[in-house]
Amino acid sequence: MNWFRRLCGVTPRKIVFKNKEFKKYLADVASCSTFRTTHQYVQHGNTSVLLHSIAVAYYSYYLSWYFHLNFRERELVRGALLHDYFLYDWHNSGEGHTFHAFTHARDAFVNAQKEFELSRIEREVIKKHMFPLTPVPPLCREGLMVCLVDKGCSLYETFKQNPYPMLRKKFLFSLPLAEPLDDFSSDR
Ligand SMILES: [Fe+2]
Ligand SMILES: [Fe+2]
Repeated sequence: MNWFRRLCGVTPRKIVFKNKEFKKYLADVASCSTFRTTHQYVQHGNTSVLLHSIAVAYYSYYLSWYFHLNFRERELVRGALLHDYFLYDWHNSGEGHTFHAFTHARDAFVNAQKEFELSRIEREVIKKHMFPLTPVPPLCREGLMVCLVDKGCSLYETFKQNPYPMLRKKFLFSLPLAEPLDDFSSDR
């Protein structure tokens, strides 16, 4: 497997560089205090919406780099970070979120548009990430990648307790924030 990684140009030094780049994109979006509130909502199991969004963004970004897909990386990461920016706890069915699976992509898009200047790619990533539950598939490569990675991450989070230890350490709890985030998983 090492020969394959080397063939793809995946060296430890390059990984450090790409992680730094990812952190820069993440810190930019996380400087928005409303975005950080997604850490208080449960996504799957004991994973917060914030950690889920970081995971989808990181693995979409990593795969795009690993396989030399030449995606627009900044837009890919920003779109993925905001793909579940619906800002409520979807487990509270009494609050009118019965059709969450079908409607939250639209809610995320509306909320994201209020706080961020979105490009065409970012809009596409957010609005279509629930395909096939939304009738039209993503019409860009970045959108297709996020749509697929989102499904993989959701499955993983549903069956794994305390997932993504590396992402928690490297990104979630090392963001340069005025107020530190709670360890979401410890009290669930
Ligand atoms: Fe979603
Ligand atoms: Fe998601």
